[in-house]
Amino acid sequence: MPDLDPPESLIEAQRAKVWRTPPGVPLCTLEAIPEPGARNFVLQIGEAFFHGFVVRKEGTVRGYVDRCPHMGVPLAHELDRYLTGDGEYVMCGWHGALFRPDTGLCVGGPCVGQSLRAWPVEVREGMIMTA
Ligand code: FES
Repeated sequence: MPDLDPPESLIEAQRAKVWRTPPGVPLCTLEAIPEPGARNFVLQIGEAFFHGFVVRKEGTVRGYVDRCPHMGVPLAHELDRYLTGDGEYVMCGWHGALFRPDTGLCVGGPCVGQSLRAWPVEVREGMIMTA
């Protein structure tokens, strides 16, 4: 049985973080993310770091800050593994919280009713960019 509690190092990480990014930063091409699929991004903003992920599903692209409302840790155990096996939900790998990919609302698990923090992104000429 795997240990389901996030390591203290994840909770206590003191590396400065920011929760938003400037607009117009190119992230990747739309085709670089499968449909449905998701991808992790870490952007350095000055001395601090932004951690987020982008979900591509049903023709839409949404971005979220990579921070679970339950315990404040990044959601994925494995790089880019944010979606459930059927691609229907964003899932936190620690305690199984399920989020709607289109809104970030938690619909199952320990933080039902809370939401992922939106990270504004857009697609321009086939490129996913911060908005
Ligand atoms: S940290 Fe517990 S469900 Fe995400």
